Amino acid sequence: MYVDIPFLKALKKEALRSGHSVFYPLIEERLSVYEDVGDSAFFPEFMFFEPDYYAILIYLLENSVQEPVVDIGCQFGFQSELFEGWSYTGIDNNRSLDGRRFNDSKPGVEYICGTFPDVEIDLTDKVAISNMSLGYFACGRTEKDLAEHLAPAKMVFMRAPKKLTDALRGKFISCQELLPSSNPKDYGVGMDCFAPLYCFSNPITAF
Ligand SMILES: C[S@@+](CC[C@H](N)C(=O)[O-])C[C@H]1O[C@@H](n2cnc3c(N)ncnc32)[C@H](O)[C@@H]1O
Repeated sequence: MYVDIPFLKALKKEALRSGHSVFYPLIEERLSVYEDVGDSAFFPEFMFFEPDYYAILIYLLENSVQEPVVDIGCQFGFQSELFEGWSYTGIDNNRSLDGRRFNDSKPGVEYICGTFPDVEIDLTDKVAISNMSLGYFACGRTEKDLAEHLAPAKMVFMRAPKKLTDALRGKFISCQELLPSSNPKDYGVGMDCFAPLYCFSNPITAF
Protein backbone atom coordinates (compact mmCIF):
# COMPACT_ATOMS: atom_id res chain seq x y z
CA MET A 1 0.00 0.00 0.00
CA TYR A 2 1.52 3.33 -1.02
CA VAL A 3 1.45 5.79 1.85
CA ASP A 4 2.26 9.47 2.01
CA ILE A 5 2.46 11.95 4.86
CA PRO A 6 -1.08 13.45 4.59
CA PHE A 7 -2.63 9.95 4.40
CA LEU A 8 -0.62 8.73 7.42
CA LYS A 9 -1.45 11.86 9.42
CA ALA A 10 -5.15 11.32 8.72
CA LEU A 11 -4.93 7.65 9.78
CA LYS A 12 -3.00 8.53 12.94
CA LYS A 13 -5.45 11.26 13.91
CA GLU A 14 -8.47 9.02 13.41
CA ALA A 15 -6.90 6.02 15.21
CA LEU A 16 -6.01 8.22 18.19
CA ARG A 17 -9.42 9.92 18.20
CA SER A 18 -11.54 6.80 17.88
CA GLY A 19 -9.41 4.32 19.82
CA HIS A 20 -10.27 1.83 17.10
CA SER A 21 -8.38 0.35 14.20
CA VAL A 22 -8.59 2.34 10.99
CA PHE A 23 -6.16 -0.02 9.26
CA TYR A 24 -8.12 -3.22 9.78
CA PRO A 25 -10.85 -2.33 7.22
CA LEU A 26 -8.17 -1.51 4.62
CA ILE A 27 -6.75 -5.06 4.64
CA GLU A 28 -9.75 -7.01 5.95
CA GLU A 29 -10.31 -8.90 2.68
CA ARG A 30 -6.80 -10.38 2.91
CA LEU A 31 -7.20 -11.71 6.43
CA SER A 32 -9.13 -14.92 5.81
CA VAL A 33 -6.06 -16.99 6.77
CA TYR A 34 -6.37 -15.54 10.27
CA GLU A 35 -10.03 -16.41 10.72
CA ASP A 36 -9.36 -18.81 13.58
CA VAL A 37 -7.72 -15.97 15.51
CA GLY A 38 -11.09 -14.27 15.66
CA ASP A 39 -12.03 -10.61 15.63
CA SER A 40 -11.49 -10.24 19.36
CA ALA A 41 -7.76 -10.81 18.91
CA PHE A 42 -7.52 -8.28 16.14
CA PHE A 43 -8.94 -5.26 17.86
CA PRO A 44 -6.49 -5.05 20.77
CA GLU A 45 -3.52 -5.93 18.58
CA PHE A 46 -4.32 -3.51 15.80
CA MET A 47 -4.98 -0.81 18.32
CA PHE A 48 -1.63 -1.43 19.95
CA PHE A 49 0.51 -0.69 16.98
CA GLU A 50 -1.43 1.64 14.81
CA PRO A 51 -0.73 5.21 15.92
CA ASP A 52 2.84 4.24 16.80
CA TYR A 53 3.60 2.83 13.38
CA TYR A 54 1.97 5.83 11.69
CA ALA A 55 4.15 8.15 13.80
CA ILE A 56 7.26 6.14 12.88
CA LEU A 57 6.46 6.24 9.17
CA ILE A 58 5.72 9.97 9.25
CA TYR A 59 9.12 10.51 10.89
CA LEU A 60 10.89 8.38 8.25
CA LEU A 61 9.18 10.19 5.38
CA GLU A 62 9.68 13.68 6.82
CA ASN A 63 13.38 12.99 7.36
CA SER A 64 13.92 11.10 4.08
CA VAL A 65 15.16 8.00 5.93
CA GLN A 66 15.22 5.06 3.54
CA GLU A 67 17.46 2.58 5.35
CA PRO A 68 16.15 -0.97 5.86
CA VAL A 69 13.66 -1.41 8.67
CA VAL A 70 13.95 -4.21 11.25
CA ASP A 71 10.80 -4.62 13.33
CA ILE A 72 11.57 -6.60 16.51
CA GLY A 73 8.42 -8.19 17.90
CA CYS A 74 6.52 -7.77 14.65
CA GLN A 75 3.84 -10.35 15.50
CA PHE A 76 1.91 -11.13 12.29
CA GLY A 77 3.66 -8.24 10.53
CA PHE A 78 0.49 -6.55 9.30
CA GLN A 79 2.41 -3.29 9.49
CA SER A 80 4.69 -4.55 6.67
CA GLU A 81 1.91 -3.35 4.38
CA LEU A 82 2.71 0.24 5.30
CA PHE A 83 6.46 0.02 4.58
CA GLU A 84 6.16 -0.04 0.80
CA GLY A 85 9.46 1.23 -0.62
CA TRP A 86 11.53 0.12 2.38
CA SER A 87 13.20 -3.21 2.96
CA TYR A 88 11.22 -4.64 5.89
CA THR A 89 12.44 -7.47 8.15
CA GLY A 90 10.13 -8.63 10.90
CA ILE A 91 11.46 -10.64 13.85
CA ASP A 92 9.24 -12.52 16.27
CA ASN A 93 9.75 -15.57 18.45
CA ASN A 94 6.13 -16.67 18.57
CA ARG A 95 6.03 -19.95 16.64
CA SER A 96 2.25 -19.91 16.41
CA LEU A 97 2.68 -17.17 13.79
CA ASP A 98 4.63 -19.51 11.47
CA GLY A 99 3.24 -19.63 7.94
CA ARG A 100 1.00 -16.66 8.62
CA ARG A 101 3.36 -13.73 8.36
CA PHE A 102 1.69 -10.99 6.37
CA ASN A 103 3.18 -10.24 2.92
CA ASP A 104 5.84 -12.94 3.38
CA SER A 105 6.09 -13.54 -0.38
CA LYS A 106 6.26 -9.86 -1.26
CA PRO A 107 9.64 -8.57 -2.54
CA GLY A 108 11.42 -6.56 0.14
CA VAL A 109 9.59 -8.27 3.02
CA GLU A 110 11.20 -11.02 5.07
CA TYR A 111 10.71 -12.60 8.45
CA ILE A 112 12.99 -14.19 11.01
CA CYS A 113 11.48 -16.49 13.61
CA GLY A 114 13.55 -16.24 16.77
CA THR A 115 14.37 -14.27 19.87
CA PHE A 116 16.27 -11.02 19.52
CA PRO A 117 19.22 -10.66 20.00
CA ASP A 118 19.85 -14.38 19.46
CA VAL A 119 19.04 -14.18 15.74
CA GLU A 120 21.10 -13.60 12.61
CA ILE A 121 20.59 -9.89 12.13
CA ASP A 122 23.03 -7.04 11.63
CA LEU A 123 21.43 -3.77 12.71
CA THR A 124 24.32 -1.59 11.57
CA ASP A 125 22.93 1.60 10.00
CA LYS A 126 19.43 0.18 9.89
CA VAL A 127 16.20 1.46 11.39
CA ALA A 128 15.22 -0.71 14.36
CA ILE A 129 11.71 -0.75 15.80
CA SER A 130 10.70 -2.35 19.06
CA ASN A 131 7.14 -1.44 19.87
CA MET A 132 5.58 -3.01 22.97
CA SER A 133 8.04 -5.87 22.57
CA LEU A 134 11.57 -5.78 24.07
CA GLY A 135 11.49 -5.18 27.80
CA TYR A 136 8.06 -6.72 28.35
CA PHE A 137 8.94 -10.36 27.70
CA ALA A 138 11.67 -12.38 29.36
CA CYS A 139 14.45 -13.10 26.88
CA GLY A 140 17.30 -13.89 29.26
CA ARG A 141 18.98 -10.52 28.68
CA THR A 142 19.40 -7.43 30.81
CA GLU A 143 18.28 -4.02 29.59
CA LYS A 144 21.95 -3.01 29.32
CA ASP A 145 22.64 -6.02 27.12
CA LEU A 146 19.65 -5.30 24.86
CA ALA A 147 20.77 -1.68 24.52
CA GLU A 148 24.28 -2.88 23.48
CA HIS A 149 22.75 -4.97 20.70
CA LEU A 150 20.53 -2.11 19.49
CA ALA A 151 23.31 0.50 19.56
CA PRO A 152 24.72 -0.14 16.02
CA ALA A 153 21.38 0.87 14.47
CA LYS A 154 21.06 4.23 12.73
CA MET A 155 17.98 4.90 14.81
CA VAL A 156 15.72 3.01 17.17
CA PHE A 157 12.00 3.61 17.56
CA MET A 158 10.97 2.18 20.87
CA ARG A 159 8.00 1.94 23.19
CA ALA A 160 9.23 -0.07 26.16
CA PRO A 161 9.49 -0.01 29.95
CA LYS A 162 11.49 2.91 31.34
CA LYS A 163 14.39 0.71 32.40
CA LEU A 164 15.09 -0.21 28.79
CA THR A 165 14.55 3.26 27.30
CA ASP A 166 16.86 4.65 30.00
CA ALA A 167 19.53 2.13 28.98
CA LEU A 168 19.19 3.23 25.33
CA ARG A 169 19.63 6.91 26.22
CA GLY A 170 23.27 6.19 26.94
CA LYS A 171 23.76 4.81 23.42
CA PHE A 172 22.28 7.61 21.31
CA ILE A 173 22.81 11.36 21.40
CA SER A 174 19.24 12.31 20.62
CA CYS A 175 16.03 11.00 22.17
CA GLN A 176 12.85 12.49 20.77
CA GLU A 177 9.35 11.72 22.07
CA LEU A 178 7.02 10.94 19.16
CA LEU A 179 3.91 9.94 21.10
CA PRO A 180 3.09 10.10 24.82
CA SER A 181 2.58 7.14 27.11
CA SER A 182 -0.70 5.24 27.05
CA ASN A 183 -2.70 5.38 30.22
CA PRO A 184 -1.64 2.35 32.33
CA LYS A 185 -5.05 2.41 34.01
CA ASP A 186 -6.59 1.31 30.69
CA TYR A 187 -4.60 -1.90 30.92
CA GLY A 188 -4.53 -2.53 34.67
CA VAL A 189 -0.75 -2.66 34.88
CA GLY A 190 1.92 -0.64 36.67
CA MET A 191 3.21 2.77 35.62
CA ASP A 192 6.63 1.35 34.79
CA CYS A 193 5.11 -0.75 31.98
CA PHE A 194 4.27 2.19 29.78
CA ALA A 195 6.55 4.78 28.31
CA PRO A 196 6.32 7.22 25.44
CA LEU A 197 7.22 6.20 21.90
CA TYR A 198 10.77 7.47 21.45
CA CYS A 199 13.06 7.91 18.48
CA PHE A 200 16.69 7.41 19.48
CA SER A 201 19.21 8.62 16.93
CA ASN A 202 22.55 10.22 16.35
CA PRO A 203 22.84 13.47 14.40
CA ILE A 204 23.10 12.97 10.66
CA THR A 205 26.72 13.53 9.63
CA ALA A 206 27.12 16.46 7.24
CA PHE A 207 29.66 16.08 4.43
C1 LIG B 1 2.48 -6.95 22.09
S1 LIG B 1 3.20 -7.66 20.66
C2 LIG B 1 3.62 -6.18 19.79
C3 LIG B 1 3.37 -6.28 18.32
C4 LIG B 1 3.69 -5.01 17.52
N1 LIG B 1 5.06 -4.61 17.62
C5 LIG B 1 2.77 -3.90 17.95
O1 LIG B 1 3.20 -2.85 18.44
O2 LIG B 1 1.56 -4.05 17.77
C6 LIG B 1 4.79 -8.22 21.21
C7 LIG B 1 5.44 -9.25 20.30
O3 LIG B 1 6.85 -9.24 20.57
C8 LIG B 1 7.33 -10.57 20.48
N2 LIG B 1 8.61 -10.60 21.22
C9 LIG B 1 8.82 -10.23 22.50
N3 LIG B 1 10.13 -10.30 22.84
C10 LIG B 1 10.79 -10.71 21.72
C11 LIG B 1 12.16 -10.95 21.41
N4 LIG B 1 13.13 -10.77 22.32
N5 LIG B 1 12.48 -11.36 20.16
C12 LIG B 1 11.51 -11.53 19.22
N6 LIG B 1 10.19 -11.31 19.45
C13 LIG B 1 9.83 -10.90 20.69
C14 LIG B 1 6.20 -11.42 21.05
O4 LIG B 1 6.26 -12.75 20.59
C15 LIG B 1 4.96 -10.67 20.53
O5 LIG B 1 4.49 -11.20 19.31
